[in-house]
Amino acid sequence: MADTLTITDNRTGKTYEIPVQDGAVRAIDLRKIKTDPDDFGLIAYDPAFTNTGSCRSAITFIDGDRGILEYRGYPIEQIAEHATHLETAYLLLFGELPTRAQLDEWTRVITQHTIPHENIKKFMDGYRYDAHPMGILLSTVGALSTFYPDARDIFDAQSRRIQTVRLIAKVPSIAAWAYRHLTGQPYVYPDGDLSYTGNLLNMLFKGTELKYQPHPVLERALDVLFVLHADHEQNCSTNAMRAIGSSHVDPFSAMAGAIAALYGPLHGGANEQVLRMLQEIGSVDHVPAFIKAVKAGEGKKLMGFGHRVYKSYDPRAKIIKKTADMVFAVTGRNPLLDIALELERIALEDEYFVSRKLYPNVDFYSGLIYQAMGFPVEMFPVLFAIPRTAGWIAQWEEMLLDSEQKIARPRQIYTGAARRDFVPIERR
Ligand code: ACO
Repeated sequence: MADTLTITDNRTGKTYEIPVQDGAVRAIDLRKIKTDPDDFGLIAYDPAFTNTGSCRSAITFIDGDRGILEYRGYPIEQIAEHATHLETAYLLLFGELPTRAQLDEWTRVITQHTIPHENIKKFMDGYRYDAHPMGILLSTVGALSTFYPDARDIFDAQSRRIQTVRLIAKVPSIAAWAYRHLTGQPYVYPDGDLSYTGNLLNMLFKGTELKYQPHPVLERALDVLFVLHADHEQNCSTNAMRAIGSSHVDPFSAMAGAIAALYGPLHGGANEQVLRMLQEIGSVDHVPAFIKAVKAGEGKKLMGFGHRVYKSYDPRAKIIKKTADMVFAVTGRNPLLDIALELERIALEDEYFVSRKLYPNVDFYSGLIYQAMGFPVEMFPVLFAIPRTAGWIAQWEEMLLDSEQKIARPRQIYTGAARRDFVPIERR
């Protein structure tokens, strides 16, 4: 049997044979299907890219029907159990798990680059007292391009490597400073003795003590959450990173766009919305009424439920539930957990959610953990952006080095007015 697709165009009666490779046809092959020589040819119409592969990628594998997530072939459950976030970032970026010596060197280099330029502190001071930290993060990361003009040299491997280190090292510092700005506290400099997440907790929560000691359980829990958020193939923000990067702009500018995409309530802003939703519901007794309103389509969604790719339980949500137990053992149980559990219980039995294959996604429980750890809701998307930095850069670099990639530029079906003559203003 041939690996081809035979298409008959019923407009002309002509038949075309199109190659099928890796379960895909190339949309450009449709172009030869024309009604006459002047016809532009067929295009594939796919708003929101629900069935379009935009790239070949060797980084992350998802099987949404079976609830499988793998980074470079390793199951997420195994990575979350055994690896740190920096180890995971190394795996995503360089394709293999680091040896002990490679991990030590990677950790040393990242630690060395954690301090942002002093001028960054000055302009961060200029944001309004209540500025959303995600807004601060996205604009500050964009501004990094002005500090590192060498980042424009995107086809130089050495330059890409140094920008990668800068981003992974400095994003937590900027994120923590954005939080300190929101809370009106002085910025805390990185502590090189601490782990990646231990140092982040230090920069976020250090008070008057001379040396901040992160709680080991919270430090590890944050690390697990970071591992789970490190990459997720062609999601909205990664697609933004690749699309912006395809214009060959520097990675700081591209990543500012990716952070902006993540900020939205349908993406990384969802965990913030989950918490707001749980607070609005207020008590377990109000859950049935809330579910009823969601099903009636009264403008409400069950935030933290549903996923474009997962049509079964998000494997990350399962791990997060376990992490929540670990954290609550230290911080005390988050009172909103009961509402979340009841929502999940009802939704998993309800025909509306079952028939649409709506299951809890990664954001359903992460917000509860972050809240128990003392983060305000505004920090939730920021805590998503920090680990996703590794995934964004890995995907950006893969796109740059892929000889099939060009500037991302979709087509459209024009639905506007037909050609008409300009009407002078006095005759309109
Ligand atoms: N609550 C209620 N109904 C929902 C939900 C939800 N959370 N999600 C989807 N649906 C319904 C839709 O209304 C639609 O119903 P219909 O067929 O009767 O019209 C059906 O399920 C299919 O949903 P779509 O919107 O077509 O699915 P899509 O793949 O476009 O959206 C998305 C995926 C954006 C994640 C959606 O499920 C959603 O808005 N969820 C809530 C926000 C959220 O949790 N986002 C985080 C995603 S994970 C991440 O980004 C890290």
